[in-house]
Amino acid sequence: MRNLDHHTITQAVLDRHANTDNPRFKLIIDSLIRHLHDFVREVELTEAEWFAGIDFLTRCGAITDSKRQEFILLSDVLGLSMLTVAMNNDKPEGCTEATVFGPFHVEGAPHYELGADISNGARGTPCFVQGTVRDPEGRPIPHAKLDVWQSDEDGLYDVQHEGLAQAQARGMLTADEQGRFYFQSILASAYSIPTDGPVGELLRASGRHSWRPAHLHFMIKAPGFETLITHVFRKDDDYLDSDAVFGVRQSLIADWMRKDDGTYEVAFDFVLNAAK
Ligand code: BEZ
Ligand code: FE
Repeated sequence: MRNLDHHTITQAVLDRHANTDNPRFKLIIDSLIRHLHDFVREVELTEAEWFAGIDFLTRCGAITDSKRQEFILLSDVLGLSMLTVAMNNDKPEGCTEATVFGPFHVEGAPHYELGADISNGARGTPCFVQGTVRDPEGRPIPHAKLDVWQSDEDGLYDVQHEGLAQAQARGMLTADEQGRFYFQSILASAYSIPTDGPVGELLRASGRHSWRPAHLHFMIKAPGFETLITHVFRKDDDYLDSDAVFGVRQSLIADWMRKDDGTYEVAFDFVLNAAK
């Protein structure tokens, strides 16, 4: 196996995987190699362009830490995250649709009683959030666990505020016996995903904006049901049709209503799919 050229090298690499004992791994790595090689041939990649790609990925790694995940962001803006979510969450009619997880979920957020204010000092117009968690037959799911997170009115999640020690506008709640949940938070605002790293460069080079329509994140778990990772969006947001990460679903758009006292409220019911 010598003197490989730009055509014969692909099969040579695939042949090296002949002894892989994990068939799923083999399928994935072989397909990845074929597509990567085809891509390089199709665009006739130069060595300088290859190096620019390596440099880009190196800088994605360098900026990533426990609070900043540039690789998830990259996957999000390339539509890879939503493609994977859409393909793996084809739920029966009536179940709440899933959307992107995003990089701002934090494990172990504080637990709040129903009715509590989870904003915990986050800047924003007060908003009361309520709804019910049900099964596909419409029966309430008692004690479903809800993990909720959102940005403040400046479009920043708590983890993006340098030096902020406590959780803000995020928390865990447990639905009551009738599957009901309710809590106080703040009005969701449209925000820009982080653009101060390599992904920002990519967006600028592509002539794209970096905005996400206003939304509130939910992750809902209950024994016997598929975990649901989703958002509730605000109707009339300017970015619903150009979300930087392609996550909008019509069924997830709700009317966040302004009350006479200037505060808001939103109601949204979730339907979990039975676990497979
Ligand atoms: C988010 O909604 O938190 C998010 C999703 C994808 C990229 C950046 C942020
Ligand atoms: Fe978000």
